[in-house]
Amino acid sequence: MDSKQENKIKEFVRISLKNTDIAHGFDHIEYVVAMAKKIAIEEKADLRIVIPAAYLHDAVSRAEVESFDEHTDESALVAADFLREIGFSHDEIGRIVEVIKTSSYESYLKGEKPISIEAKVVRDADWLDSMGARGIARVFAFAGHYGCPEMGKVSWHPESPVKLEMSTKGPDPSPLYHFFSKLLWLKDEMQTSAGKIEAQKRHQPMVDFLNTYKSETETDQ
Ligand SMILES: [Fe+2]
Repeated sequence: MDSKQENKIKEFVRISLKNTDIAHGFDHIEYVVAMAKKIAIEEKADLRIVIPAAYLHDAVSRAEVESFDEHTDESALVAADFLREIGFSHDEIGRIVEVIKTSSYESYLKGEKPISIEAKVVRDADWLDSMGARGIARVFAFAGHYGCPEMGKVSWHPESPVKLEMSTKGPDPSPLYHFFSKLLWLKDEMQTSAGKIEAQKRHQPMVDFLNTYKSETETDQ
């Protein structure tokens, strides 16, 4: 896509995200866009659909909606209005909205699946930023912003985790809980070959972190 249009989208998102939590700040968007471009090229996905969707997928923050699971649909609406203003066609907007709506974790929990290759690319790029060192940093930033009352405990085995239920209306009970409700399961949900390879790399640092945390906090009593 042409760089003028990309810059317009970038500026719009940068301003929209001024008051969001730091786990979903503009750096998250930049990492998702960069990874989405990389995977899209390997998968021969349409960059004119992937790039706007990657920029706009979190255009509305979770703090701006009543329930966390509404932020995807709200982001899709904001994206559609803005893309119409800058000259995207009806067909392109429909495809970009489909990508935004079917690539979020909230839509996955509602049973929606990414159909197009563009949705699979954006979903993998977005979810990869919840893994590895970035994932570890972001989960604590997110929990702090949304008022989790405690760090939690590593009460389960990181190598053979139990699947805890994730809250869809607000934050999980603690950031350490969130590893077991979501983050440790992401590697099994990647949609593209490049996503699967990258997820394998990013999984182990989370397991190592949890094991270290567990050993530092366990007492002999
Ligand atoms: Fe995101």
